[in-house]
Amino acid sequence: MKVKYLGHSCFQVEAGGATLLFDPFITPNQLASSIDMKQVKADYIFISHAHQDHMADALQLAKQNNSTMVANWEICSWFNTQGWHKTHPMNTGGKWTFDWGEVKFTNAIHSSSFGDGCDGGNPQGFIIKADGKTFYYAGDTSLHMDMQLIGKYNKPDFAFLPVGSNFTMSYEDAVIAAEFIQCNTIIGMHFDTFPYIVINHEQVQQAFTAAGKTINLMEIGATLDI
Ligand code: NI
Ligand code: MN
Repeated sequence: MKVKYLGHSCFQVEAGGATLLFDPFITPNQLASSIDMKQVKADYIFISHAHQDHMADALQLAKQNNSTMVANWEICSWFNTQGWHKTHPMNTGGKWTFDWGEVKFTNAIHSSSFGDGCDGGNPQGFIIKADGKTFYYAGDTSLHMDMQLIGKYNKPDFAFLPVGSNFTMSYEDAVIAAEFIQCNTIIGMHFDTFPYIVINHEQVQQAFTAAGKTINLMEIGATLDI
């Protein structure tokens, strides 16, 4: 699989012949000013929860790419009211097989209201299987015990975990999360975008190395073959 980092928690992943885009927040992100929106591809746009820093560019990119949005019922319904109807609603624990791979929605401990006060349902994580591999995209979440189930039953080959603390788990908890999900290859997200979530990269790298794990703190615009 090929992973491209577009800043904050936004990644473009080539999987099973499809391009999956997670939590698009590019144009409001000053750190991501080098990203050319016209080059952002998405057959599917996954939205983990309704906060602005996870969906600011979702509508524009869906229109640009004729993407299918995959999110919880409330988020899909909200985008329907914004005029976007190519949506696939799911909810926690649910699984669906698309022509490129399989998606399961997982628990995330966070909140999920829209900026306009509308109910954004429950925040989600995703377990995705394609190309004979499994990965976990945690969304915004604290460390939680359900992650042990992901380790026991899915053993992801790699995982996207938030590491910025303040709004989500810290890097220390992300090390424990990596143990819970039984995964040695982590891609960090939700760091450095705002003053509240600035991290010391060296410290984070050392904590994962000490636990026998690898964390990739990708440069915005960089790609990773995984
Ligand atoms: Ni959030
Ligand atoms: Mn967030």
